[in-house]
Amino acid sequence: MDLEGSIGFGGPIWVTGAGGLIGSYLVRELSQRGCPVRGLSHKDLELTDCKAVLETFLKEKPSAVIHCAALSSSVVCEEKPGLARKVNVFTTRFLSDLCHNIPFFFFSTDLVFNGQKGNYQPEDPVNPLSMYAQTKAEAEELVLTQPGHTVIRTSLNGGISPKGNRGFNEEIRNAWQAGKELCFFTDEFRCPIAARLTARIVVELLEKRIAGIVHVAGGGRFSRYEIAQLLAKRYPEQEALMRPGSLKEYSGAPRSPDTSLDISATEEFLGWKIPGLDAWLQENPEEPF
Ligand SMILES: NC(=O)c1ccc[n+]([C@@H]2O[C@H](COP(=O)([O-])OP(=O)(O)OC[C@H]3O[C@@H](n4cnc5c(N)ncnc54)[C@H](OP(=O)(O)O)[C@@H]3O)[C@@H](O)[C@H]2O)c1
Repeated sequence: MDLEGSIGFGGPIWVTGAGGLIGSYLVRELSQRGCPVRGLSHKDLELTDCKAVLETFLKEKPSAVIHCAALSSSVVCEEKPGLARKVNVFTTRFLSDLCHNIPFFFFSTDLVFNGQKGNYQPEDPVNPLSMYAQTKAEAEELVLTQPGHTVIRTSLNGGISPKGNRGFNEEIRNAWQAGKELCFFTDEFRCPIAARLTARIVVELLEKRIAGIVHVAGGGRFSRYEIAQLLAKRYPEQEALMRPGSLKEYSGAPRSPDTSLDISATEEFLGWKIPGLDAWLQENPEEPF
């Protein structure tokens, strides 16, 4: 199946958040497949400006929308809850409604879960602990009122972002380069994935017109400390300033200890296994990361 055959190219495929990490990989993935794509960065279109969004939408008539734009920093969402809700919930609802008769893919997060259980299935009840996660959970519910729409829940994404600071790997490497020692929990677990792989998976799901909640994460569950060790191995020239820590000694904002995602249904849709970050790094030794 190819994209043109499955959705028909009335207009370009819109990718919001194209100036961010995952959006930039999606624009590249779609272009490489020869799909007409319109990457919308924040400076191209202010998504909270409904009038501008509507006008641009009616003019360009996208054939599908992949909505990556978000206020994605948990810290900023806590500081500015009104803005978080405006960007993450209201713009998502507006776009989702506009797209009632075309595919709409919304990016959500593993953090909609409180992390007490781990290995979460798409249908497990959500229980967000932060303002960021709360806004994503609210937006998920609104998107899912449209039966053809898709919620992509992903975990830590890594890669090279346009601003150089959006991937988890970039945050860690930037800190190490600045001579900062970081503490990594040995008892907090995630399923990290390369953003390039996320982009490939999402495009394949779009080709297949998969709707509903889909988990897109790496095929391996790693502690924060194990993730840092993988990065230390990837950057041998860089002194990896790190020490292990435990959530038991932590006293800050609530954290989800284990948000690992069950990806078996996703692998069935795709027809291939999603590698863990360790295997992906090994298989792609030359890839900038
Ligand atoms: N990366 C991860 O590890 C991860 C994990 C789970 C879920 N997600 C979700 O996946 C999606 C993509 O993540 P990402 O890492 O690519 O995020 P990102 O790098 O932070 O990119 C988000 C983009 O949205 C733009 N944006 C923010 N407010 C906007 C507005 N009002 N109008 C138009 N654009 C706006 C931002 O532009 P400015 O920076 O210029 O404001 C930014 O370029 C997000 O929804 C995120 O919540 C990401």
